[in-house]
Amino acid sequence: MIKFIVGVLIGIGLVLVAGYFFVTRGAVFMGTNANPLPLERRIAGAAISASIGKSADDPSPLTADETNLQAGAQVYMKACAGCHGRMDQATGGAKGFYPSPPHLFPPSKGVTDDPVGATHWVVKNGIRFSAMPSFNQKLSDSEIWQVSLLLQSANKLPASVQDSLRQPRQQQQPQSQPQPQPSQQQSPATSPTPQGESGNLKR
Ligand code: HEC
Repeated sequence: MIKFIVGVLIGIGLVLVAGYFFVTRGAVFMGTNANPLPLERRIAGAAISASIGKSADDPSPLTADETNLQAGAQVYMKACAGCHGRMDQATGGAKGFYPSPPHLFPPSKGVTDDPVGATHWVVKNGIRFSAMPSFNQKLSDSEIWQVSLLLQSANKLPASVQDSLRQPRQQQQPQSQPQPQPSQQQSPATSPTPQGESGNLKR
């Protein structure tokens, strides 16, 4: 019996040593442009779930009302859309990451099936060996809950919140409306004074 146990232990040890040399001698290509190894996704997913652990059961201190979802959308556009893409970008945002950042709005399922506590954990802590950063230092805990509620409700968002998650429209409005009029009117009226002043300065 003892011989059998020792045999099993030696067997396990040999597998671990072989695994160590397999990985450290370059058999696992660490660049981003290779396909995943067999079981890689499943093992990584299980490791993430195990790290989240009981935090998945954490209830949100905030409710998923329109105010909090709208606040979550503002956080998302500022901190997340650059990688995960906007709502109207179904093919996703940033390229060149491995694993690539998943799209989190319909038609993708995103994290709508996950407990909001699990999403809060991911946003707060980030995911090791991936581009997903920790937002612990960058966002307040309320902002992390708000963006987590947003992603959990991604398949049933009010229209106003959906609008905020599309191409920002504010960029075009200020440029096209107020700017041309003042600059056209002011430049003839104000130009004499700057010229006079600059003339004084040159002397
Ligand atoms: C620099 C790029 C980057 C930024 C910025 C970023 N993420 Fe991520 N995120 C990733 C990547 C890459 C993954 C995939 C990690 C993995 O699968 O191991 C990911 C994964 C996730 C997941 C898990 C998805 C799943 O299917 O389980 C959630 C939730 C998430 N991000 C939310 C956010 C939120 C919310 C923000 C903004 C506050 C954000 N991310 C900002 C790159 C980013």
